Amino acid sequence: MSGFEHILQNTRAASERADEAFLRALPKTELHLHLEGSLEPELMFELAARNGIQLPYQDVDQIRQAYNFTNLQSFLDIYYQCADVLRTEQDFYDLTWAYLQRCHEEGVVHIEPFFDPQTHTDRGIAMQTVLDGISRALADGHEQLGISSGLILCFLRHLSEEAAFATLEQAIPYLHVFIGVGLDSSELGNPPEKFAKVFAAAAELGLHRVAHAGEEGPIAYIEGALDVLNVERIDHGVRCTDSEAMMTRLAAEGIPLTVCPLSNTRLKVYQHMSEHPILELLQRGLCVTVNADDPAFFGGYLLANYQALADHLGMTRGQAAQLAANSIQASFITVEQKTLLLEKLEQVIVA
Ligand code: ADE
Ligand code: ZN
Repeated sequence: MSGFEHILQNTRAASERADEAFLRALPKTELHLHLEGSLEPELMFELAARNGIQLPYQDVDQIRQAYNFTNLQSFLDIYYQCADVLRTEQDFYDLTWAYLQRCHEEGVVHIEPFFDPQTHTDRGIAMQTVLDGISRALADGHEQLGISSGLILCFLRHLSEEAAFATLEQAIPYLHVFIGVGLDSSELGNPPEKFAKVFAAAAELGLHRVAHAGEEGPIAYIEGALDVLNVERIDHGVRCTDSEAMMTRLAAEGIPLTVCPLSNTRLKVYQHMSEHPILELLQRGLCVTVNADDPAFFGGYLLANYQALADHLGMTRGQAAQLAANSIQASFITVEQKTLLLEKLEQVIVA
């Protein structure tokens, strides 16, 4: 038994249902968050006005009413449309800064957010504009809020591998401001194998690798992400429940899954939160973590995702602490940083 598990087992309150104050106090990392998915309707209108853009919605209520998704694609169609208001370096700064402030309020101490450069470069926005705005906010987040971060550049999988290569090439002058590459957008029909060469090139550059797999797609996509793209984490991965062998493999190899409960229910991967398998996967020994994905579109940030598990699955303090510990272990920070954060976590558990 590890020191951490020992503390959990000997903490009287570990089996109590987790409450909001406890969930907020836990030092947490967030490993699956699309910055463009943190664009709140209020900021969307502000940026539209600032940039002289006419949105196809009357007001924020009308936008929220449009967030009535039936699957991943129905969400992506609106999501890419909304990103059109992001034009200037200051827009990307404001977007990222607003997310960092939410993190600060919710006890999130380290983040590894995603951004989709192609969504912007394909509209004529320079890679430098996007990266300057995001990285300036992340630096301020570290300095002013004490939140550390490592940015991840995602390739859009509905586009070609050639386009992904061009994006990686454009990003090479900025290798100092991002730590890894990911793969997102429409999963079905776009298997990991399509991006084998560009992920190999990213590995050569010393970048970390993650990929969305098993959100809507089959087990073969999780397998492809692991064996062909050589990813270090699987984003979502909840469809591993289709295969005993895959669940056993993920547990044995300690491959983290960045699970997004509110996203999964809003995109109808599950009809109701009570059907979500995250705590069963935790029980089976998988390194599952909790994340918000696209909080402005799915009804809540990281804390709301943890809270939903307490409300609908009866998540205990012990389970919540283990999920927060997993989020620290699964991150790309150093062993020393992990040890420090795990010590802080222990202090919250025994308090
Ligand atoms: N881009 C933003 N959110 C996503 C998700 N949940 N799956 C795939 N691509 C995404
Ligand atoms: Zn995602």
